[in-house]
This record gives sequence, C-alpha cells and structure tokens, in this order.
Amino acid sequence: MNPYRIMIPTKVYFGRNIWKEALKTQETLLRGNVMLVTTGRSLHRLGYVDALKQELQQCGRTGNIIVFDNVSANPKLSEIQEGISLGRQEKVDVIVGFGGGSAIDAAKAIAAGVGEKEDIEVLFCQGREPGDGTLPIVAIPTTAGTGSELSRAAILTDETRKVKNGIRGDALYPTVAIVDSCFTESVPFQVTMETGFDVLAHAVESYLSRAASPYTKMQSEMAVQIAGQCLPRLAACLDDTDARAQMSFASMIMGINLGNASTCLPHRLQYPIGAHTETSHGAGLAALFTAWIQCEHMYEAGKIERILELMTGHEVRGAKKCTETFCEFIKFLGLPSSLCELGIEKEKLPLLADEVSGNIKNDPASQQEGIILKLYEMAWPENRM
Ligand SMILES: [Fe+2]
Repeated sequence: MNPYRIMIPTKVYFGRNIWKEALKTQETLLRGNVMLVTTGRSLHRLGYVDALKQELQQCGRTGNIIVFDNVSANPKLSEIQEGISLGRQEKVDVIVGFGGGSAIDAAKAIAAGVGEKEDIEVLFCQGREPGDGTLPIVAIPTTAGTGSELSRAAILTDETRKVKNGIRGDALYPTVAIVDSCFTESVPFQVTMETGFDVLAHAVESYLSRAASPYTKMQSEMAVQIAGQCLPRLAACLDDTDARAQMSFASMIMGINLGNASTCLPHRLQYPIGAHTETSHGAGLAALFTAWIQCEHMYEAGKIERILELMTGHEVRGAKKCTETFCEFIKFLGLPSSLCELGIEKEKLPLLADEVSGNIKNDPASQQEGIILKLYEMAWPENRM
C-alpha cells in the first residue's frame, strides 16, 4: 500500500439543531470584530441572519458584527474586493461564512485578502497560496453541496475576463465548521438537486482521481451510496429530514476528499461553462457527467461499475448500461443531462476548451489527445453511445 497524508485541520460540529450550542463553545475564537459573509435574501427572509447575529452578540468577547451580503451565486472578484475593503475599514478579526458554497468561498477569500494585505487579484491570477496572515474562518453551510466548509479552496469568478478559478492553500481551511442540517431544510427543490449533485460529483471524481487514497476512497463509496439513496428520496419529498441530514454528512466528508484527493475533468470543464452562462455549478456538472462516465469506463471500468452498483443497489455492467443508468439518474432529479440544455452553442466549444485551466492530470483519461474538447462535444446526446 502506498503512503499517503490526510489533512483535516478544521474542528467540526455536526448534527441537527446544534449550531447555537456549537457557537457557544467558540467564544475564544469569536472575539473582536466579526464579519458575517452571506449571500443574502433568502437567509434574511427566513430570519436566519438575524438569529445568527443575535447568537454572536451573546458571545461575551465579540465586538462589532458587520454583515456583508453582497455575494452572488458565483462570487465575483469585485464583490470580494468590496468585502476586503469593508473588512479592513472595520478592522475585522474573524470571518464567519454563512450560506451555500458561494458565501463560504467568499468568506475564505475575504479572510485571505484582509489578513494577508495582498491584492486578491494577485492570488487569483498568479495562483499564489494565501499565507498565515489569513484571518480565522468559521464556516456554517446552509446547503448540502460544495463541502467548502472542509476544503482548502475558494472558487471565484473574474467577471471582466469571464474566468472562473480557485484560490487554494492550507490557510483557507476554516478553523471551525458548524454543519447543521436544519439550515438545509428550507432549500428549494432545484437548489437541493443541484447542490446534491455536486456532492455526488465530488464522490465519483475523487474516487477515480489518481490522487485518491484508501481513506478517501472509503469516504467516496459512503457518499455515493448516500447520494444514490437520499437524492431520489428528496426528489420525492423535500421534508425528509433524515435524507437532508445524510446529505449534509456526505457533503462534509466530500469536503475532506476535495483537499486530499481532488476532483477530475468535470470540475475543470464546468468552470468556463459557469463563467459564460452563469448557470449553477451543479447544473453544469450534471450536463457534463454522462459524457465523462462513458469516457472513464474505457480506463476504469471496474471503478465506474462499482460506483453504479453503490448508487443503484444493483449490478450495472458495461459502458452503455453505466452511461444510460447515470443519465437516467440525472434526469430523474430534474437536472440537465446535456450542454444544449444550458444554452451553449456548439460553435463556442473550442473557446470554452481553451479556457479550461487547473490540474487535469489526476483524471485517468487526461492523457487522451484532445480530451477536453472531445468531452464537451460528447455532452450532446447525439454524440454519445
Ligand atoms: Fe464541486
């Protein structure tokens, strides 16, 4: 067995209706001025932002609480710069990210920008890692999806250059993650399915990744099984609180896999799609995934068939059957199963392929000549088997 390293530096609190008790244990960390970074409207409307502010105010050492809620679904560099300016002006000491992956990613980037006194654009464009000056981050996810609460990345969009990419580094691991599935219970159908598919994508991609270890594979198998059972349950009934809690758990453990096994081609290929169409991360992944499953079966048939078996609870053999079964699963969740459903024109595919960046070497199919453009083209139903 090859040696490997697992990094889980975040203190995690997990459960249902545990967030207030968990916050109370963090009085030492939550001292000074606290910036609450959130995506706004629905969390305000549900009263969650006020409730969180109130709890923070009761922490004995907290000074001012500054709310920054100007964060889009795909956090933009300009929004991060605005948050950093506010954070510096208000002399914030700790950042709380409260919301979906976008809010938590924005919180991480703002923590790096305020604490490091480095221009965030430099970190983003030059791929530099944020340093130890990064402010402490408390992550409180309200969706089950990105796993950002336990990962070392913040995914941002440069809206002027239409580039979506990440800043990455160990300093971006949140100090504390409070994963309370009660917050996910009011998430509407489409967001539940899109974020849930992201969990499944993290599980399958980190399972296939060349950087996978026995530890991350074990977690992938568990997350695939949970998503395979719980997403259809939630598609039938959004009030299934047990399925919600299980998806929060799967999302959280896949956050660990992101930092320790990484993802594969679908995540690299989704970023240009998200930047050009402003469609969600989960929708873009779903649109790409059937083509990718077909392609990966050529290299890792055993792993793909194991994944399908865990998802469905029965044996699935052969590239055609695996591809069809995965596609049916995506359609059952009401997600797009091809790129044409996202409004992308075929003529734009070479442009999108040129914009794919980041490490693709962990993908078993990465050596194949022209694989990026080929996968984009296969994401049209008529180009698949
Ligand atoms: Fe993802």
